[in-house]
Amino acid sequence: MSARLLDGKQIAADMREEMRQEVADLTNLGIVPGLGVVLVGDDPASHSYVTAKAKACAETGIFSDDHRLPASTTQDDLLALIARLNRDPRLHGILVQLPLPRHIDENAVLLAVDPDKDVDGFHPLNVGRMIAGQPTFLPCTPHGVLHMLARSGITIEGAHAVIVGRSQIVGKPLANLLMRKNGLGNATVTVCHTRSRDIGALTRQADILVAAAGQPQTITADMVRDGAVVVDVGVNRIVDASRKKGYRLVGDVDFETVSRKAGWITPVPGGVGPMTITMLLYNTIESARRQV
Ligand code: GUN
Repeated sequence: MSARLLDGKQIAADMREEMRQEVADLTNLGIVPGLGVVLVGDDPASHSYVTAKAKACAETGIFSDDHRLPASTTQDDLLALIARLNRDPRLHGILVQLPLPRHIDENAVLLAVDPDKDVDGFHPLNVGRMIAGQPTFLPCTPHGVLHMLARSGITIEGAHAVIVGRSQIVGKPLANLLMRKNGLGNATVTVCHTRSRDIGALTRQADILVAAAGQPQTITADMVRDGAVVVDVGVNRIVDASRKKGYRLVGDVDFETVSRKAGWITPVPGGVGPMTITMLLYNTIESARRQV
């Protein structure tokens, strides 16, 4: 392997150490930052995320109020719970884990979260503020990617960033943040997706290549320029009988071959994932700080 590792796990640990102090300072002022987390259904990956979020909150001194509801939960019951969390003065942030079961209208749920507690940055008001360049909660995965790059000493300004994937959670907001006129932006941005022609011709132009397609093996070595920075947002479970759990996690990038060609690369797990959770804590603390 010739690429250097973008060590999201270490960077996240450093940031959380700094946050622990901020939480302690707020707690001394009588404000314990609090996060409400709602998970509906049995998706195993979502359960793992939510467990990791609760653990990260506990380690940082943030109060977390977890609600795990059965897949049969009605939309009305979910909306009633969100209304209750909106009113709960102990909570500065609310997160509804996605995806939701198919009988629930995701847009209705995201609209129901109080924009002032929307630490995911998914409410249309906050999406609008982000695009308008106004202060708001920034979506955690794209924001985490930017901090990981910056803390690794990678220059974003002027770079050609190519994103593969146009999801509402990652691709779209990341493209927007990379374009913003500030220290974490000022990149030239290309977004590729399933209907793009000759994706390899586009990805080979990337100084910074972000894989956020949700498919293993989306990025192979022939699609990467020598020395490029490769950020793998994918988290895919693949069957592996040699593992105790019966599966292992892989990203969207063929790590084995791409790591021989890239200049920098994120591992999966231990790359973007810990950064996402860290930015969730960051937004929750920021929301609590607004009360001071
Ligand atoms: N599902 C996958 N990523 C996320 C995220 O960042 N926030 C929420 N709420 N759900 C997700």
